[in-house]
Amino acid sequence: MMLLLIGQQAWAQESASSAGTTSVYFYVVVGFVFVTALIVLRVAMIILKLLRFMVKDQARKQAEARGEIIEEPVKTNWWSKFLTQANDAVPVEEEEAIILDHNYDGIRELDNHLPPWWKGIFYVSIVFAVVYLAVYHVFGTMPLPSEEYAIEMNEAQEAALLRQANMPKSNIDETNVELVDDPALLSKGRQVFINNCAACHREDGGGGIGPNLTDEYWLHGGGIKNVFATIKHGVPEKGMISWEPLLSPTQMQNVASFVISLAGTNPDNAKDPQGEVYQSGEEVEIIDNAVDSTAVEADSLSADDAQAAL
Ligand code: HEC
Repeated sequence: MMLLLIGQQAWAQESASSAGTTSVYFYVVVGFVFVTALIVLRVAMIILKLLRFMVKDQARKQAEARGEIIEEPVKTNWWSKFLTQANDAVPVEEEEAIILDHNYDGIRELDNHLPPWWKGIFYVSIVFAVVYLAVYHVFGTMPLPSEEYAIEMNEAQEAALLRQANMPKSNIDETNVELVDDPALLSKGRQVFINNCAACHREDGGGGIGPNLTDEYWLHGGGIKNVFATIKHGVPEKGMISWEPLLSPTQMQNVASFVISLAGTNPDNAKDPQGEVYQSGEEVEIIDNAVDSTAVEADSLSADDAQAAL
């Protein structure tokens, strides 16, 4: 029990602030009480047995003193008693006695009773069903799986809001973000990328569901400010969510810098270019993330032109 309680503490730390831990704690306490009760009961039974034995012994001695002889009753232990009771049915050899009179073309009815252990389980299942119905559907004491799901989702949402509120406030946004080249920060950015972005952009940035991030063509503008803005606001209508609620500004700065550091890495099987060649210094309209063709110099090639030229 001590080990369980220690484990519980480590657990509580891991998921601090999650309300789920209280119920785990509750079960541990209930388990503890239950086991203690079992031990106390067992000890009480042993003491009782001892007392009975002493009383009987005394009675036997007195009877002997009076010259009487007491017959010991035949001993049967509770388990064999239980077994005979649980399997109480007329044995096969004696079935003749319980065969009913009617006879349909040789088919006769044997009126043996169901094994009591089986009936016991059947009755218990009926009681269980009634209790279950009452607890889950009539009184709603316990939540149904769908409600449980909703509760957990709410808890997770609250926890996420709390995490966000506790995140160190940083005033990095798309207007003042700067490219970082510190390898430590870039490797942090890479980690964020692998965890969140690789599913759509591939681990090497070569593109999949999302566009190739290693070439010089950009749909929403290259350069740290545009890339940061794309990551922050996302392109929800095209399947890329806004990462603002999930990543801190510093994380977005790191991952944006990592994305830019991929330029020219030319991974195998990369996706074809999409968008326009980015001229450094251009600011792409970031409010709605629409591709703003006016922001691109007239002499830059579009992806289609580039392909046609090849
Ligand atoms: C569910 C898939 C998905 C995930 C996950 C995803 N993206 Fe995207 N991303 C896209 C799609 C699709 C586009 C193209 C949007 C468009 O067509 O306008 C895109 C576009 C981009 C662009 C703009 C590319 C350009 O050419 O202008 C950048 C930068 C980018 N994503 C970075 C990221 C980063 C960083 C992450 C992780 C934090 C990420 N993406 C996660 C699907 C995804």
